[in-house]
Amino acid sequence: MAHHHHAPGHDDEHRSENAHDHEHLDWAELAPLLESQAELFTPLYEHALAWLAKEVTDPGLIVDAGSGPGVISGLFAETFPGARIVAVDGSEPLLERARARAERLGAGDRFATLTGDMPGVLAELDYPADLLWASRSIHHLGDQGAALTACVERLAPGGTLAVMEGGLPSRFLPRDIGFGRPGLQARIDAVEEDRFSCMREELPGSVAQAEDWPALLTAAGLHHTRSRTFLLDLPAPVPDRARAYVVESLTRTRDLLGEYLEADDRATLDRLVDPDDPASVHHRPDVFVLAAHTVHSGVRPV
Ligand SMILES: C[S@@+](CC[C@H](N)C(=O)[O-])C[C@H]1O[C@@H](n2cnc3c(N)ncnc32)[C@H](O)[C@@H]1O
Repeated sequence: MAHHHHAPGHDDEHRSENAHDHEHLDWAELAPLLESQAELFTPLYEHALAWLAKEVTDPGLIVDAGSGPGVISGLFAETFPGARIVAVDGSEPLLERARARAERLGAGDRFATLTGDMPGVLAELDYPADLLWASRSIHHLGDQGAALTACVERLAPGGTLAVMEGGLPSRFLPRDIGFGRPGLQARIDAVEEDRFSCMREELPGSVAQAEDWPALLTAAGLHHTRSRTFLLDLPAPVPDRARAYVVESLTRTRDLLGEYLEADDRATLDRLVDPDDPASVHHRPDVFVLAAHTVHSGVRPV
């Protein structure tokens, strides 16, 4: 069973992680969701990669740590046609998707994968990375500070570490949707924040850590830290695949976090995900997607 939940700026696949037991987080089961979500978010990632490309010129080796199905790894292959890419993840079925994607993009010959548990598996990389990217994967590791240090150790001198963590909770609906108590999404976010804390506390080797990412990057030995937030702004009326994402997202919220919401909010959410209800997100014209994800980067001193 996948547990998912949402904290600010974490994507929907984090929704309710932890609503159930955390011992069996099954990333492979989430593969189609992770992949379609990352595809929807491609414009956001492209902006983030363009921002990185201004500072990181001609990287020889790019590592995508906690790549999942490799949608972003594929974007790295496109943005940096001279680079080799290694996607690292604990889930082999997800990496299989990443390899298939690289083949489809014509980048199979400069694409490799490494399966194993982070951060330890990073020591198995054969060469130091010029750019190491970790989007929404560090927060799944018990000791985030140690994980960042392990990432920095795999950087070439002058290499860049970029982590995508934090941002803002996503919005799909106006504050007042014409029924139920206004502000539903804000209350869902509050529940998700708490579930996220529980998820972190239950990770093996969990270390409490303030989420000051620039400070954490500095403590891991990086210089020139900078942060920038990128938006996915899909205003209403949304295309079908954006609507499908909202449906999937709120359905997961209902299934995995519903028990933590007040009864009136649960009833509103039930209506919102009911395909037979004309006021559901399946049909309503006011659905939108507004997401904000932050990238924090730093450079290993030469
Ligand atoms: C939320 S997904 C992010 C996927 C992708 N980076 C993205 O931004 O779309 C987190 C990924 O981290 C991987 N992961 C979580 N804990 C891990 C660990 N201890 N070792 C290796 N990979 C891990 C999961 O398999 C999953 O693919």
